[in-house]
Amino acid sequence: MSAAPPARRLYIKTYGCQMNVYDSERMADVLAPLGYAMSDRPDDAALAVLNPCHIRDQATEKVYSELGQIRLMKLARAEAGEVMTVAVAGCVAQAEGEEIMRRQPAVDLVVGPQAYHQLPELIARTHRARGESLACDFEPQAKFDALPARRPSGVTAFLTVQEGCDKFCTFCVVPYTRGAEWSRPAADIETEARGLAERGVREVTLLGQNVNAYDGAEGGLAGLVRRLAAIPGLDRIRYTTSHPRDMDDALIAAHGEVEALMPYLHLPVQSGSDRILRAMNRGHGAKSYLALVERIRAARPDLALSSDFIVGFPGEREEDFEATLDLIRAVGFAGAFSFKYSPRPGTPAAAMPGQVPEDVKSERLARLQALLETQQRAFNAAQAGKVLPVLFEKSGRYPGQIIGRSPYLQAVYLEAPDRLIGQIVAVEINRAGPNSLVGARVLETA
Ligand code: 5AD
Ligand code: SF4
Repeated sequence: MSAAPPARRLYIKTYGCQMNVYDSERMADVLAPLGYAMSDRPDDAALAVLNPCHIRDQATEKVYSELGQIRLMKLARAEAGEVMTVAVAGCVAQAEGEEIMRRQPAVDLVVGPQAYHQLPELIARTHRARGESLACDFEPQAKFDALPARRPSGVTAFLTVQEGCDKFCTFCVVPYTRGAEWSRPAADIETEARGLAERGVREVTLLGQNVNAYDGAEGGLAGLVRRLAAIPGLDRIRYTTSHPRDMDDALIAAHGEVEALMPYLHLPVQSGSDRILRAMNRGHGAKSYLALVERIRAARPDLALSSDFIVGFPGEREEDFEATLDLIRAVGFAGAFSFKYSPRPGTPAAAMPGQVPEDVKSERLARLQALLETQQRAFNAAQAGKVLPVLFEKSGRYPGQIIGRSPYLQAVYLEAPDRLIGQIVAVEINRAGPNSLVGARVLETA
């Protein structure tokens, strides 16, 4: 685990009732994992929050007058090269947000009581809007321009098309460390993909933190996939990692129509409990995930799915965990990655109440993995007797053996000469293990 960020000063001015005092304490709790420590002075604060009860009449003027003083401090700090973020909280802030920001432009954000848990996200977005980079010194484009031309070593290659994340799942550090969603221009990607194909690459996996949020081509990721599918020699296209929220109709349709798009999709769901999904800020529920899976499978019936799961997220009860098992049973996954929740400093979930004891997490993870393993075995076993097109990638461990991948990303072992490496060959699957398939070449008969 990385060290906690250095202390930043947090000034909260609370006006009015006991309820507001309680709210201010909640805000301080949510901000503590980001390294914010309370200060009783506004002038050296990295974040100043005013939490008024009502901005009306007399009180209104008091708040605007305080904001006026804070503005002067903010300007003085800016001259010294320091940044001060100013927030107004409370019910009235929620109702009159735009008016407050119009009357006092020093205010960076307004946040209502329903959104205090989103403060880390709102602050990160404010930093981004000001053009402050959080972790990367480079603009993403500059990085790509500076990279040397690719020298692929095999028949498969990864191709980065998107970086960053705007989703702010409450357990995840990526939005804070990688910055905003950014898409590489389609023309650059196409040039790189052509170069890869000319050097013998037959399969590309398009990479992005939120790859299906890609918007650098007309028609988004689906448009990019269609352009790449037209490149001679590029027979297989995959992409990862997708977010359920960005799985649009065009991309679903592409799965049914673009032959090069492989029928395997990594689509993390994290949990099957709506309560936990809400606390994770995932932006989808269990039902909407299942409906999405149904739509994708309607377009491409043989599509295999994999996912990421987190067990023991703060507040997860036995019934929430069982809802996750129910979702897994309902979908049937061909593979999965699963994790015990681990608090990451600087993320909202790290400060949430109801942290789950380690032994409970371990016990749930074991149950979850047992179910997922059963499904993976069943998926592999179902391939026995079928003929699959396999792209051969390298020699196996034993002489005379080569290894490739099925359309569903399964490793396939075959007794065959090395010259088949780089070719897509029809293979009859004879045996299925938990992690791989063994097959024999189907010889063409005249
Ligand atoms: N604890 C456990 N798992 C996490 N992941 C991300 N953050 C955490 C965390 N704090 C997992 C999610 C994500 C995958 C890449 O890593 O499942 O999809
Ligand atoms: Fe973004 Fe994925 Fe992290 Fe959620 S889990 S914040 S979608 S990178």
